[in-house]
Amino acid sequence: MDEFDIKPLLPRHIAMIMDGNGRWAEQHGKLRVKGHEAGAQTVDKMVSLCAEIGIEVLTLYAFSSENWERPALEVAALMRLLRHYLKRETKRLMEQGIRLRAIGRLDRLDPKVRKELEDACKKTAAGKTMTLNLAISYGGRDEICDAVQTICRRVQAGELKCDTIDDKLMTSHLDTAGLPDPDIMIRTGGEYRISNFLLWQLAYAELYFSDTLWPDFSKDELLQIINDFQQRERRFGRVL
Ligand code: FPP
Repeated sequence: MDEFDIKPLLPRHIAMIMDGNGRWAEQHGKLRVKGHEAGAQTVDKMVSLCAEIGIEVLTLYAFSSENWERPALEVAALMRLLRHYLKRETKRLMEQGIRLRAIGRLDRLDPKVRKELEDACKKTAAGKTMTLNLAISYGGRDEICDAVQTICRRVQAGELKCDTIDDKLMTSHLDTAGLPDPDIMIRTGGEYRISNFLLWQLAYAELYFSDTLWPDFSKDELLQIINDFQQRERRFGRVL
């Protein structure tokens, strides 16, 4: 880590699309679920590095609204991995001051999984080091529709006027309310897509696409991306 001067212009929020588990498994002659298991180890590495260097929020796309369409066995394996993660890591997250948060349509989760997730979020709620934000059963369009519905209901109830709907109001009705927008979005696995991830919040994020398959994504590669980010000129649509 010494070779990089990571303190100035440290991103506040890093978001990651963890793609490539299936291909990694195939390349190693293993079942897809083994790729997800290997991917869970990369999650541990990324969480500890981000907390160590002072990232405020790490958002991980763990399960998309579209992932429900995968074969039932794979969905079950991913849910099992999530439960294992919560069981294994909640205590460590508490010790490290990492607050767990979840975004997405959590009502679609099995009630047991949902309860374990909510319990882990409650137990870690006082964490001040970093927020680990897991996107589960998440879709950016769903999130925007849900926010619009809530706002419409508030307008109907007379709490809000239509002409007060602005960027700030929308932002405060999203699942990510209270979190800063991502500064960096990284997608591993060699695809150049956003795949319905944080559609509103990524408006000014710097985008990084890595060919590395998620289980092989390393701390060094993340540090290189942060280093590159620190060289980029972010104008947010303005002239500097
Ligand atoms: C995409 O790879 C990855 C997923 C759909 C699941 C991500 C899950 C993990 C990394 C492990 C569990 C997470 C936690 C937080 C414990 P893919 O299956 O689409 O890969 P492919 O494109 O190579 O088939």
